[in-house]
Amino acid sequence: MQSVAIIGAQWGDEGKGKITDYFAQKSDYVVRFQGGNNAGHTIIIGDKKSVLHVIPSGILNEKCVSVIGHGVVLDPTVLKTEIENLEKTGLSITSKNLKISENTSIITAYGRILDGARESKGKTKIGTTGKGIGPTYEDKIARRGIKAFHLLDKALLRERLEENLAEKASLFERLYEVEYPALESEVERLYELGTYIKPFICDTFSLLDKAFEQGKNVLYEGAQGLLLDIDYGTYPFVTSSNTSFGGIYTGAGVPGRNVDAVIGIVKAYTTRVGEGPFPTELFDETGVQIQTIGGEFGATTGRTRRCGWLDLPMLKYSAKAAKLTSIALTKIDVLAKMDKEDKIKVCYAYEYEGEEINCAYPGLDMSKVKPLYKSMERFEENLKEGKIGKNLQDYIDLIEKTVGVPISLLAYGPERSELMEVKKL
Ligand code: IMP
Repeated sequence: MQSVAIIGAQWGDEGKGKITDYFAQKSDYVVRFQGGNNAGHTIIIGDKKSVLHVIPSGILNEKCVSVIGHGVVLDPTVLKTEIENLEKTGLSITSKNLKISENTSIITAYGRILDGARESKGKTKIGTTGKGIGPTYEDKIARRGIKAFHLLDKALLRERLEENLAEKASLFERLYEVEYPALESEVERLYELGTYIKPFICDTFSLLDKAFEQGKNVLYEGAQGLLLDIDYGTYPFVTSSNTSFGGIYTGAGVPGRNVDAVIGIVKAYTTRVGEGPFPTELFDETGVQIQTIGGEFGATTGRTRRCGWLDLPMLKYSAKAAKLTSIALTKIDVLAKMDKEDKIKVCYAYEYEGEEINCAYPGLDMSKVKPLYKSMERFEENLKEGKIGKNLQDYIDLIEKTVGVPISLLAYGPERSELMEVKKL
């Protein structure tokens, strides 16, 4: 299989890092195509835990080339820290195994400050990660963005930043009343970082074009989840990029290329960070139990994740909107560890304006749907022996039947080895 895509099928935090790491071991290239350091991909190998925010998870595999595509928004300070931390673990990060598109958009101090000011002083709270993601994408679309190649020429960088700051200065001073760094100090800071990242910057379009011509294997690593997609998600409570399949074509720079498998990563239950509707959210002890057993605290911000039951109408929509060819079901061990007397519930449909609806099409008002649940028996805990018990099989069957997509992989723990291939991709 020459190309595989990993796409979060819920609201992010589905366990994509672990599945990406699994496929990265068989890939020549791993490409991030959207998002920035709002993502946090956790990978556990033996007693080593790595949390990656901007560098593709392929970096943990010596033979892989990790590519940051032009659809990503990159905070060079975070990148530098991440490289230094990885090097402390013995990994070598060089211009051979890390490539950054010259057209990647750069997150500046101004973007971060604007994100924070809007969240703390603005009217509508999205509950962003505060990393400057939204403002950086806004600047890109408004053609006043800073691209990676701008960091390499001080005069050009100053010119671009000056234009970038022009409108923001009045927002900072008059609307939000926040402090911001002077133009010259931001020019110096970014130019210095530019010198640091210069060896990694290249034309990733031609890099990938040639890789395909040579028959190399390419893995696309999505961040966040389908329901956070700027176009397909629960707007306005979304991130500012295309987290869906379409994001690969625009953000990795591989227009129209065949993608052999699109694997939707689905957590066995649902979580959400930040604001926005969440039909199957649990507000009781069961929700707290899932949160505790599942360690549902953000890898990026440390925020507590809201927890709820698996939502199949939502997954059915995700499968259509992200063109999923199979599902990797993760964190099933969490439901297996719940109190014995508890039943597991799955939302199989919604009741909406007196009708039963089985697909969360975007026309639905998600804050008004009533989830309809099916009760299931708690799973047996024999996954380490590679056995799927009856209760888990019933759960798998219900998902496959309702969503219409096969489950190819089961993840039952944070370790690299706690993964089972149950069907061909
Ligand atoms: P932003 O991406 O920081 O602009 O945040 C927009 C929304 O996306 C907020 O609700 C965040 O909590 C959510 N979000 C962004 N990145 C992630 C992620 O990696 N996992 C889960 N939620 C995320």
